[in-house]
Amino acid sequence: MILKDQTVIITGAARGIGKGIALTLAREGAAIVVADRNAEGAEHTAGEIRAAGGAAKGVAVDVTNRDDVHRLMQTAVAEFGRVDVLVNNAGVVSNTPILDLSEPEWDLTLAVNLKGVFLCSQSAARIMAARRSGRIINISSLSGKVGAPGQAAYCASKHAVLGLTKVMAIDLAPYGINVNAICPGNTETEMMRFVFTKRAESRGQSFDELAEGILAKTPLGRFGKPEDVGQVALFLASPASAYMTGQSIDVDGGRSINLS
Ligand code: NAI
Repeated sequence: MILKDQTVIITGAARGIGKGIALTLAREGAAIVVADRNAEGAEHTAGEIRAAGGAAKGVAVDVTNRDDVHRLMQTAVAEFGRVDVLVNNAGVVSNTPILDLSEPEWDLTLAVNLKGVFLCSQSAARIMAARRSGRIINISSLSGKVGAPGQAAYCASKHAVLGLTKVMAIDLAPYGINVNAICPGNTETEMMRFVFTKRAESRGQSFDELAEGILAKTPLGRFGKPEDVGQVALFLASPASAYMTGQSIDVDGGRSINLS
């Protein structure tokens, strides 16, 4: 029970990686605030945690909306009395080549993936600063470190999240708040299925052919599971990472270190 008595807010936890992180941290005793624009999904994840004996509350929130974010923090404090950890996981993918990329698609991608991290982090950090203790974990991507075809807006947003992580780490260190990032590789979620489907279509490949090609370049030979990211989030949320801040950890089965 590494996170006993701790309150963790996880955005985008109705499904996918966010849900994997929520279930992993809940098993270690944390009370989880499941924040997602999908209210039904958020409540479903929270219900699963409660059914397993944990504490959780679902909150409907659009991370791009300042009022929603403020209400999220107030709800967390009212429900559990404190905010110890924020996981900025909510995200959308944009998979449109630069020549066809529309301004609304650019704006939405940057609003959710980057502005959402700013709004949630600032709001949570103001609460954490009062107790001079806190952890912020940003879910970036391998696309935060290298380019991916057709993902100009997505890669720009995820690279920016790593820059924001470094500056928040510096600015918030005097308040006892550590800020780190995780860069997942291909992880089995709806988002991955959407990206693979679009990429396979554009290359005239089947979904399975594309997936096999990527696995052949992934040393550990499988795609990630949401719980793989959850385990690293657990480390970053725990006292074991006390002397780390401003860092990013790749959780990608070795995909990024393989030039083949
Ligand atoms: P997903 O699409 O399965 O889940 C994303 C969740 O975020 C959904 O529940 C959605 O409702 C929520 N969300 C979207 N916009 C929101 C908003 N404005 N306010 C609140 N909630 C919102 O995606 P997945 O795969 O679970 O991704 C989670 C994070 O991991 C994202 O930041 C993504 O960019 C990142 N990531 C995913 C990878 C993958 O292969 N699946 C690889 C690298 C990074």
